Amino acid sequence: MTEQEHNTGEVAMLTIGGRTIELPVVEGTEGDKAIDISELRRQTGYVTLDRGFANTASCSSAITFMDGEKGILRYRGYPVEELAEHSEFVETAYLLINGDLPDHKELNRFRMMLNDNSLVHEDMQRFFQSFPRDSHPMGILSSMVTALRSFYPALIGMPRSEAILLTLTRLLSKVRTMAAMSYKISRGHRVIYPRLDLSYCANFLNMMFDNPVKPYEIDHDKVKALNVFWILHADHEQNCSTAAVRLVGSARVNLYAAISAGMAALWGPLHGGANQAVIEMLEQIQAAGGDFRPFIERAKDKNDPFRLYGFGHRVYKTYDPRARIMKAMCDRLLAKLEIQDPLLDMAKELEEVVLRDSYFADHNLYPNVDFYSGIVLRALGIPTNMFTVMFAIGRLPGWISQWMEDAGDPKWKIYRPRQVYVGPAQRPFVPIHQR
Ligand code: SDX
Repeated sequence: MTEQEHNTGEVAMLTIGGRTIELPVVEGTEGDKAIDISELRRQTGYVTLDRGFANTASCSSAITFMDGEKGILRYRGYPVEELAEHSEFVETAYLLINGDLPDHKELNRFRMMLNDNSLVHEDMQRFFQSFPRDSHPMGILSSMVTALRSFYPALIGMPRSEAILLTLTRLLSKVRTMAAMSYKISRGHRVIYPRLDLSYCANFLNMMFDNPVKPYEIDHDKVKALNVFWILHADHEQNCSTAAVRLVGSARVNLYAAISAGMAALWGPLHGGANQAVIEMLEQIQAAGGDFRPFIERAKDKNDPFRLYGFGHRVYKTYDPRARIMKAMCDRLLAKLEIQDPLLDMAKELEEVVLRDSYFADHNLYPNVDFYSGIVLRALGIPTNMFTVMFAIGRLPGWISQWMEDAGDPKWKIYRPRQVYVGPAQRPFVPIHQR
């Protein structure tokens, strides 16, 4: 059952078209307030216009809380810093989906379900082999997630809650397997299968990098870093891709299709694709002899659509708490692995110069989750074109929990925004011989 917003008893008075109406004010757990305009059009004939929904709440949600001014991020009330420090990704996924941290028995059962559903139908390998070798992994993955529905059709006759549990477990486990499979097949290598004796994260690294002539050695620092990486990406309230999952899901389509829509949205360089764009930008700066001034000037130029990737955020008007953790993890992981990555030094230098620049300060532009995440993925050996796939695997529990919350909302409605029409007024058809 979805928790509901609390009606404060306050009202917003709106005087329009010669009349005044009262709109109720609602409040969330942390004091966030909203004007409920559900009755606006019926009472006034007016709708609101809010490009990018910057001022519009699409739902009430009990999953993730963000305070953009204070740089706070909590999953089901738990600070992301504490989960990154003490939790594992599978445990955090359970928390997001079920609302509470699991006990030993619940966690072990969840782990076994993920293991039992970690294989991918052998016929799917032919799909991977049919994609052009240079296909972008996000295009392959979002297609394959929709294809999962064909291999795992509706669970008719099974109680709904059990059917949802089995479907979400399949997604969490098989998407991870498919990502590694896609990588192996793109390189013409033998597919490596998941193993019962390895954890969720260790299995992914092993499926990516193990091979018959050079067995992959599980490195616990890398496994820990991957757990933290995926915990930091696990949910982020109503971001673009989650809104896509909710919107597509609101038509009551199956979960696979809704998740595939989320992946499509995440692919964009302004959203999850930014982690790949950051590394490509740093590599361009490196190729230009380390001079990032031209990139900063372009980013500040109103007439130039170029954005400094990895900076800025719709909600955070201060340092993204995930970027802070990611940056510290870069230092720890690279030191442990004895890796010198010149891009990390350049990223830190770029951050310093940007944060001293009044343009970025005036626009509240700080590093976001994508600015340092690529450095961690490079240290793990993940190819750059798979960075957004890594983001998508991390975001799966968030998308799933948000879809479930929408599906369980007694006030559920199909998403169907209105518009302000600015096209031509009515005009008669003109036969082609008169045009
Ligand atoms: C993610 O929403 C989420 O929660 C997303 C995410 C998640 O976990 O799901 O956090 C993941 O997508 C992180 C963001 C990754 N994207 C990037 O790093 C791309 C670069 N950033 C920008 O494109 C931008 O900051 C956005 C898209 C992130 C936010 O865009 P907004 O909120 O629509 O802000 P805007 O584009 O209206 O910019 C406001 C002002 C503008 O200047 P003015 O016209 O007001 O003078 O800030 C400027 C922009 O030009 N600006 C930037 C900038 N970001 C904003 N200028 C230069 N470089 C930038 N990066």
